[in-house]
Amino acid sequence: MCGIIAYTGDERAAPILLEGLKRLEYRGYDSAGILTIDENSEFELKKDVGKVLEIDQKLNFLDLEGDSGLAHTRWATHGGVTRSNAHPHISNNGKIAAIHNGIVENYKELRSKLISEGFTFCSETDTEVVPNLVEYWIEKRGLDFLHAVLNTFQSLEGNFALVLIDRDSKMIVGAKNGSPLVLGVGKNKFFLASDIPAFLDRTKDVVYLYDGDTVILHPERRYEIIDYRTGKVVQRPIQSVSWDIEHAAKGEFDHFMLKEISEQVETIQKASAQDREVIEDITQRIRRARGVFLIGCGSSFHACLSASYLFSKLASFHINAVLASEFSAYEDFLKEDTLVIAVTQSGETIDVLDAIKTAKQKGCQVVSIVNVMGSSATQFADASIFLNAGPEVSVLSTKTYTAQLTVLTLLAYSLAGKYEEGQRELKYLWNIVYNITAASMRNRIKDLADRLSKVEHIFVLGRGPLYATALEAALKIKEVSYIHAEAFAGGELKHGPISLIGKGTPCIVFVSKDTERHIISNAMEVKSRGGYLIGIGPTPLDTFDFFIKVPESDELNPICQIIPIQILAYQLAVILGHDPDRPRNLAKSVTVR
Ligand code: AGP
Repeated sequence: MCGIIAYTGDERAAPILLEGLKRLEYRGYDSAGILTIDENSEFELKKDVGKVLEIDQKLNFLDLEGDSGLAHTRWATHGGVTRSNAHPHISNNGKIAAIHNGIVENYKELRSKLISEGFTFCSETDTEVVPNLVEYWIEKRGLDFLHAVLNTFQSLEGNFALVLIDRDSKMIVGAKNGSPLVLGVGKNKFFLASDIPAFLDRTKDVVYLYDGDTVILHPERRYEIIDYRTGKVVQRPIQSVSWDIEHAAKGEFDHFMLKEISEQVETIQKASAQDREVIEDITQRIRRARGVFLIGCGSSFHACLSASYLFSKLASFHINAVLASEFSAYEDFLKEDTLVIAVTQSGETIDVLDAIKTAKQKGCQVVSIVNVMGSSATQFADASIFLNAGPEVSVLSTKTYTAQLTVLTLLAYSLAGKYEEGQRELKYLWNIVYNITAASMRNRIKDLADRLSKVEHIFVLGRGPLYATALEAALKIKEVSYIHAEAFAGGELKHGPISLIGKGTPCIVFVSKDTERHIISNAMEVKSRGGYLIGIGPTPLDTFDFFIKVPESDELNPICQIIPIQILAYQLAVILGHDPDRPRNLAKSVTVR
């Protein structure tokens, strides 16, 4: 994710844009930039790598003159963390500037077409094709700025929120398509931003935009909205926001954890929208390797374990999932043709970095699957895949866990020669995840949380990849509610743990079509000893005392079935009076051994 804000009005733009960037930094913070138009109708641009405050101390954003401009804080997806890749991006003729949140999936073909028309590029980003396409439609095809922008938006594939400004007319045009964009309406001033916090201190009057909505901010301080797909005028009401600013970054959510759980509708799709060539490259590295290790810690290890079942089932491929902190025990197995895939959201977990160094010393190839571009793991790795999930502010791994599973699932399909099938299956998840994260489901799960908030122990059962899901569920519950939660492979229950089951002992059971027969017989062992059974899966069975429906999604069950328990863990924490975003004793990234 990235944070974008555009402004035009009767006040100086730089202070407003700078304040807006600071309020959007939770969306991305590896580089930032501000562009304004001064009184001579010239662009003034300051941008660099680093956090907003660091760049401001170096470049002094407030020197920028003019009453209109764009600003952007970046979460790198296409192109490294460099100054040239920072936004805003400007067209070859220096007249059009753009800021962007999202992914232009067809940017490579657009870039080739523009190069064939004589255009040049100075960044590795997908975004830079946008202002140059607008220039192409103006200079080569004679359109005015607005129609050139509309043609450009119609030629883009993928989710995006884009805002462009024309130096000569000072017109600003912004469109929403799958990524967030909201219009702020003040007195003689207008804002377009990724999220309301960016301008909430300037106006509480907002227009919520829908996919296709294109806002035109005219220099004479008026706006209109059309649908760029049809050209038709769109009417949207102005609504007043009741939030106060300190709650703003969380939007309508009370905590980042719940906001990030809800973002999974968007982030799972973003994780699946990978560059095909990157996936193909990693797939070939896996095929060529003699021995492949998946390593990680905590939730990231659970993603590795889940993937090891999937690589076996989908691609008949043996892959070893190993805790990064235990990896040194395998040192003697490591050869030059061993491949180590390090799965780490932060890219800074010391146990993972130690394991990578061990692998590198043995001459192994290393691939990292990371959320934070430019992190240490990406610097040590020979190749990396990015989760594109945006910053995860809560200590708990939620959206990045399902993003890791998504990337690993795509790799397993690719290894089986079924990349397109994998893409199709992942796209179908949108509806399931949307329903699971909806308010109605959250309310239902709260009833369960009210009951479980009073217990001392919660047990979790699963089989196959859903055993890894059970481990992740137990981790989520324990780390944020402080209730003891423990996971078992269903078949292990009778080998000891069943002695723990007494009257009313709560036991969560993950069920799928593949595992139903056996996991239900395990569950019956719990039931017959008085346990309280909570079923997660596609079919409501009489066995369950509480049931949460998650439609069957075959190999993708681990991605969907964890989400209700993320919500349960969050609600337990709130009921018990804990801070879900900052649980006691925990850090977002464990950089000490
Ligand atoms: C999960 O909710 C925890 N935040 C923790 O287990 C985390 O997954 C682990 O520390 C690994 O972090 P990483 O993905 O940044 O390497």
